[in-house]
Amino acid sequence: MSTPRPAAVIVLAAGEGTRMRSRRPKVLHAIGGRTLVGHAIHAARGAHPEHLAVVVRHERDLVAAHVNGLDPTVVIADQDEVKGTGRAVECGLAALPPDLEGTVLVTYGDVPLLASDTLLGLLAAHAESASAVTVITASLADPTGYGRILRDRDGSVAGIVEQKDATDAQRAITEINSGLYAFDAAVLRSALAEVGTDNSQGEKYLTDVLAIVRGRGLGVSAHLIDDLWQTEGVNDKIQLARLGAELNRRLVERAMLAGAIVVDPATTWIDADVTIGEDTVIHPGTQIHGATTIGADCVIGPDTTLTDVEVGDGAEVVRAQAVLAVIGAGASVGPFSYLRPGTELGAHGKIGGFVETKNAIIGTGAKVPHLTYAGDVTIGDGANIGAGTIFANYDGVTKSRSTVGAHSFVGSDSVLVAPVHVADGAYVAAGSTVTQDVGPGELAVARGRQRNVEGWVARKRSGTATALAAGKALAATAQQPLDPEQPPDAEQPTDAERPPATRHTDSEGGERS
Ligand code: UD1
Ligand code: MG
Repeated sequence: MSTPRPAAVIVLAAGEGTRMRSRRPKVLHAIGGRTLVGHAIHAARGAHPEHLAVVVRHERDLVAAHVNGLDPTVVIADQDEVKGTGRAVECGLAALPPDLEGTVLVTYGDVPLLASDTLLGLLAAHAESASAVTVITASLADPTGYGRILRDRDGSVAGIVEQKDATDAQRAITEINSGLYAFDAAVLRSALAEVGTDNSQGEKYLTDVLAIVRGRGLGVSAHLIDDLWQTEGVNDKIQLARLGAELNRRLVERAMLAGAIVVDPATTWIDADVTIGEDTVIHPGTQIHGATTIGADCVIGPDTTLTDVEVGDGAEVVRAQAVLAVIGAGASVGPFSYLRPGTELGAHGKIGGFVETKNAIIGTGAKVPHLTYAGDVTIGDGANIGAGTIFANYDGVTKSRSTVGAHSFVGSDSVLVAPVHVADGAYVAAGSTVTQDVGPGELAVARGRQRNVEGWVARKRSGTATALAAGKALAATAQQPLDPEQPPDAEQPTDAERPPATRHTDSEGGERS
């Protein structure tokens, strides 16, 4: 039998949540990268209702803005001064079409592990029994605090009694009300009209609907579920962490069933909206947040945090922190790299150790391997940025962009003062401060020339260990014939242009440098 679509889901989220001891409304606290009410909306959507309403009151504007930011089609229903879950549902119905017919599901905004499948199971059970009300129940070893399910001798559900209103015998009942229900819309509306507030809390209880419906001779059923986590609400920050850990356990298992290799599930945190490709290895201490998508055959971690990052197939990201970034297929990041928003690393590119990037578009196969700040820059395919390069993008007032063309080479310890453009196929000599554009095929050298002041140590540092060492070295060279072929300076490959005869000496012993 195929189950009809529910007419509506009403999510109750008007409660104050005082036990959270928080300035933030309870349902806006998050686990698994989603707020509690975000989880409730997600589960409700999975039941494909025609209408979805969220009932709000406490911090109404904050909650409403958040909910509509997640899903603008959700109807915000305001609960008035009358308290209780029954009143909340009444207010939810009032915000929906008055002629609403069919099944209405009621859920809570603070029960984050509820799955859509459970709501679909409730709908199927509700349809099959043709009851006017079906309530999800669970059997708890310690039912303290929950409403208890009252059953007749024949086992049929007679009603629900709240802990605070229950007799000792009723408190001994271990079958509890989860607070998740399926109702016939018309029956719900008319029964709520009969519910009063004559109870220990002076509230309009939704739970009273069951006995009223039963009194009319209509069917009331219970749908018992085993997975107790799905009915557990968050009331304080201990429960928030407990349910957060359980949710994570489930999300990590889901990732493994989808093909990821998670080395240490206990120290791996994966948010609800993350996807990970097959045979990608997640090493310990890794957090994967937000809308991050990771391709197949990647290596992520250890000790890596990715938030809203797209990682292509076969990429490697080790000990890195990245936010709103794209890491191309086969690229390599880390260790100790910080990718800030707007970073796009091309396929087979590299962002290495102690490199920070922001609004940096780095081409295919381009490399920024060591100790660099690359902010507001476009780096062409195959370019190489030497160790210690700084893209100085901020003059204290405005930020500007720089470019480095394809297959260009920026020597180590250079500063490129934005806006400056290094063309395709150009070089920048190590230690340059580049303030003017560099054309194709050119070498830019922008630094002071080296001059060596002969005898300076002997004059200014006589008697020191340095002076003694210098004296020894000079004596040794004086005894050796001069090697006519000076070995090339391996540390300075970009400085090929330096004429060998310009070795500058200053016998004046001046200290101008
Ligand atoms: C309620 C049930 C109880 C059940 C338990 C399951 C009633 C009377 N009792 O008790 O049988 O075992 O849930 O967790 O329904 N809310 C509103 N407006 C209100 C009051 C509550 O929107 O005026 C919302 C809350 O935000 C929360 C949910 O309804 O999401 C439940 O409210 P709560 O106060 O926690 O109800 P309980 O006393 O726990
Ligand atoms: Mg509660």
